[in-house]
Order: sequence, then C-alpha cells, then structure tokens
Amino acid sequence: MTEESVSPITFPTDSYIHSTGWIGKTFVSTPSLFDALGVVRNLAILDVGCGFGRYCKSLLDVGASSYVGIDVSQEMIDLALKSHRGLNAASFLRMDAEKMTFNDQFDLVIANHVLQFCPSVAKLKNVCKNIYGSLREGRRAVGFVPNGISELSFTEEDGRKFGARLVIPENVIDGQQVAVKFYNGETGEVTGGTTMTWFFKETYEECLKAAGFENVVWHAPTVSKEGIEKFGEDYFRDLLNPPKDIIFEVTK
Ligand SMILES: C[S@@+](CC[C@H](N)C(=O)[O-])C[C@H]1O[C@@H](n2cnc3c(N)ncnc32)[C@H](O)[C@@H]1O
Repeated sequence: MTEESVSPITFPTDSYIHSTGWIGKTFVSTPSLFDALGVVRNLAILDVGCGFGRYCKSLLDVGASSYVGIDVSQEMIDLALKSHRGLNAASFLRMDAEKMTFNDQFDLVIANHVLQFCPSVAKLKNVCKNIYGSLREGRRAVGFVPNGISELSFTEEDGRKFGARLVIPENVIDGQQVAVKFYNGETGEVTGGTTMTWFFKETYEECLKAAGFENVVWHAPTVSKEGIEKFGEDYFRDLLNPPKDIIFEVTK
C-alpha cells in the first residue's frame, strides 16, 4: 500500500463520549497516567489528540501554567471549547498532529491513546517528530498506547469491564488496521467502534527514537487504592497481565 492510499482514521466522537462509566479508565488508566505525568506545577502543557479535553481542568487545578489541546476532529474541539469557556489558561485548536509546527514551546506533551490512530508508520514517525519539535530541551512526552506485543488478546468481558476492546486478528502484522469497540461501562452495551493501527511496541520505539528521543521508558499501569478497595485486585487481573495498554515516557 502506498502512503497516498492510506486513508485517515476518523474518530467517532459520539460513541466515544457516550461510552461512560469505564472502570478501567477511572481506577487504572487515569491514575496511572497522572503518576507518569508527575508534578505539573508551572508547566506549559500540549495535549495532542486531546479529544474533548478530559484532563484539562485537572491539570490546571494541580498547577499547570497553561494547557493547549489540539485535535483533528472539529467536533471534539467544539465540545472542548464549550465545556471550558472562561478558563483563560486553556486553549483548544483544530489541528492534525502530523501538521503541528510548535517550536520548543512546551514543558510537557501528552499524547494519550492517540499514536495508534496514525494510519501508517510514516505518519506515526511524523507525529513523533512534531512532538519532539514542540518540546523544550530536557522536557518530556507521555501517553498510553496499546501494548504491541504478540500475546495480547481482548475478550468481550474485558470490553464490558474496561470500556473498549481491540479485535486483534490472529497473526496480526505490524501496521495492520484493527477494529476497536466501545462499550457503555454501566450497561455493557457496545456503543460504537472505529479502527486503529496495530503497531508493534518496537515500532513505537523506533519512531520515537527516529524523532530524536534517545530513550523510551515504558510504564505498566497499576490499579489505584480505591479500585482495589472497591473491586478487589483480581477484578483487574486480565487488564494488567500482560497490560493491554502501556505508557511511554520520552525526554528531549
Ligand atoms: C481515544 S481518543 C483520546 C482522547 C484523549 N487523548 C483522552 O485521553 O481522553 C483519540 C483522539 O485522538 C484524535 N486524533 C486522532 N488522530 C489525530 C491526529 N492525527 N491529530 C490530532 N488528533 C488526532 C481523535 O480525534 C480523538 O479525539
């Protein structure tokens, strides 16, 4: 397939925002992401593929100096603008991460559950390069991606428990388009779906390194204390052994 023939992946705003009540997001991915972000006080943050700005308020509440969210979807940006009116430290722009031209402006880039929506390795490389370009020297980029290892599989039950599941074909190859289903965490219904690209973990590393990042550090998510108290450790076993999603951390 040539680069030109790879069509962009469009993200289904409606089914995504209506897939609420995700136990995995509340008790695993959000707290794990914030652990990896560390102290954000006084940091200028760029959130690449920000969606409707899920983390904007929390980041400003804990002291980030400014927040810029970019997303390729006008619908997501409209939602973000609507729900953050009057928040002067926040701005939202419709922009393709592949075409970002920020220069050494940010102290922290978040690209959370976004890199897998690049439809090809070449585009993933460009996005990583633009993330690198956006950061000040010595600053970090962080985000979740699917754990691109061969032994990963998702059951329907995983989807219902955790909000989303990938349908990974046997012998999946690097760069293959795979289906994602979204679930309503409260009712267990499938609310919609989309496609994303299955990249091997090594491919994420190669693209981040080709962009200029010397080292890629991976973090496995963990369950918050509240999650363990409410559901017990066993409930999350499938999500974490091996982890379905992992966090990359890179420093410029
Ligand atoms: C799974 S959502 C994640 C949203 C948000 N980061 C979060 O963690 O809640 C993926 C988002 O990435 C956006 N996206 C996908 N490809 C993009 C690109 N090339 N440039 C900017 N945004 C993109 C989609 O429109 C969608 O809002």
